[in-house]
Amino acid sequence: MKIPGDIRVVRYVAHPDGAELRKCFSLSQMRVPEVDQGEVLVRPIYLRMDPYQRIRMRPESDFEGGPIRGGPLRLGEVEPGRGSGVIVQSGHPSFSPGDHVSGEMHWAELTAVPAAALEKLPPLRGSLRLSQSILGGPGLTAYFALHETARALAGETVVVTGAAGGVGALAIQMAKAMGCRVVGIAGGEEKCRFIMENLGADAAIDHRAGEIEAALARACPDGIDVFLDGVGGALHDAAIPLMRVRGRVVVLGAIDRYDAGNGIDLGPRNLYLIAINRLRIQGFLVGDHVADYPAALSEIRQAIDRGQLHAVDTVREGLNEAPAVFEGLFRGAAIGKLLLQVHPDPEEQPEAA
Ligand SMILES: NC(=O)c1ccc[n+]([C@@H]2O[C@H](COP(=O)([O-])OP(=O)(O)OC[C@H]3O[C@@H](n4cnc5c(N)ncnc54)[C@H](OP(=O)(O)O)[C@@H]3O)[C@@H](O)[C@H]2O)c1
Repeated sequence: MKIPGDIRVVRYVAHPDGAELRKCFSLSQMRVPEVDQGEVLVRPIYLRMDPYQRIRMRPESDFEGGPIRGGPLRLGEVEPGRGSGVIVQSGHPSFSPGDHVSGEMHWAELTAVPAAALEKLPPLRGSLRLSQSILGGPGLTAYFALHETARALAGETVVVTGAAGGVGALAIQMAKAMGCRVVGIAGGEEKCRFIMENLGADAAIDHRAGEIEAALARACPDGIDVFLDGVGGALHDAAIPLMRVRGRVVVLGAIDRYDAGNGIDLGPRNLYLIAINRLRIQGFLVGDHVADYPAALSEIRQAIDRGQLHAVDTVREGLNEAPAVFEGLFRGAAIGKLLLQVHPDPEEQPEAA
């Protein structure tokens, strides 16, 4: 590929003020970055829209003391993000032009990144896209949260929030494959229908329809054994009173308050119920399981081959659209993992005759 002199990038230029996150970004041009020793130049194909990117947009003074991966964003920097792409130039012996990779990159037409931030993808058709959902972070998060942290058992009731989202859509399918009874909580009728008809959930609850406590109680007449939660807030409050003795709550994240600053969170609630029901509430970070990724990916591939799992994503196109697409993540605009396609996918091009 001929490397251009100038490229388009999306910079983070203003801290959020309300829900219109697109105003925080600006499209600009820059010289194509030099590739130093140990770095590679990548042509991003898919960029993943991840909820944790919203936490990094809080001003430094608004952090809660806990570390956040990568720290707060600096005004003016090119927006970092995970994704997959093709190497076009290499300053590292392990990578060659043409290799397909997944890892840390930027919202840019071309990006120079340390080779250590990337992993090579297998030369299989579809891997650029699948590596951003079922065969990557979202798939691994759902897998380890259910199998290792919650240790869900056949016959147990599993409730999943963000059920039509990137992690949730995979967690629903995996819990069904484990023999669990699965209830999904999602926003809107369309998503609720989707998780029942396409993912096999036994029941679905629309969190935008109100009366969540009553709906959840109806959907879980015997209580909840495992609560897989990436949302928090009102959904967390609705689930805790329904937890069965020795139930497990896995806290994946708290998207309900990713835009909140200091002083707003009320702290743990329902502590008495947590005590008498001997609940286990455990925080989760998928990176803790990195040594076991290969074995998990192999199991996920086998489940795909058996027809028990399938990828769920929504692909939007064009780097210019990145700010609006990212904003849509927090309005529930996508089903499955929300991806931005920056360049055509070479693995989806028709084979030469
Ligand atoms: N700990 C880890 O290692 C790890 C790894 C990956 C992801 N996560 C976390 O897992 C969660 C899901 O991540 P994801 O990548 O799969 O994102 P996602 O579910 O694809 O996208 C976010 C979804 O959350 C729902 N949502 C947004 N605001 C909400 C609110 N206030 N109340 C209820 N639902 C709301 C929206 O769906 P609806 O239309 O259904 O509302 C939206 O589509 C996030 O908390 C993320 O930070 C954690």
